[in-house]
Amino acid sequence: MCTKTVFFYIYHMANIAIFASGNGTNAENIIRYFADNNIIKIAAVFSNKEKAPVLEKAKNLQVPAFYFKREDFSNGYPILEILHELHIDGICLAGFLCMVSPILLKAFPKRIINIHPSLLPKFGGKGMYGLNVHRKVIENAEKESGITIHYIDEHYDQGEIICQETCPVLLTDTPEELASRVHSLEYKYYPLVIERIFSPQEKV
Ligand code: GAR
Repeated sequence: MCTKTVFFYIYHMANIAIFASGNGTNAENIIRYFADNNIIKIAAVFSNKEKAPVLEKAKNLQVPAFYFKREDFSNGYPILEILHELHIDGICLAGFLCMVSPILLKAFPKRIINIHPSLLPKFGGKGMYGLNVHRKVIENAEKESGITIHYIDEHYDQGEIICQETCPVLLTDTPEELASRVHSLEYKYYPLVIERIFSPQEKV
């Protein structure tokens, strides 16, 4: 006798929020990557800078965009309330320049990830963001740079590393040229890592 088993896979879509402080080219790339995805939804973008271009970019792509004051962020609770209202499952930092509050860390254990434009632990820590990082890499005559995607903990740029990808540093590089090479790695790998980390487990 032959019995036929039918499996029902019920997927809960993962709602992801992006936190960003600046230009938001990574945020835009991530939003576009997941635009037609039925597993991961970029549900909101948050910024601590009222005039950050990332907010405009998100709105243009029909993603709700929120500005919050730094105090509201360091306190944690006002943001947490909105994140719960939006049923956010995970958070990606993409050029976000505030320390993540312990309240959020506790509410999203291993559910907050960051991208950093160097090979951590090199060139990480307070003040190390954007072009500052690439300037230091060039000053130090590094032959190689790249990206680090890592979980967030209570210290700047120190959480468990999920993935690192490298690129060469050329003798003639300006910080802008190196930034552009590193950005290309970010655009390629950050969406893939988000997909891997936040895709919900199937439930039968
Ligand atoms: C990105 O290169 C990201 O890795 C970096 O800021 C840039 C934001 O660019 N993040 C940090 O330096 C965090 N310490 P974007 O606004 O164009 O996405």
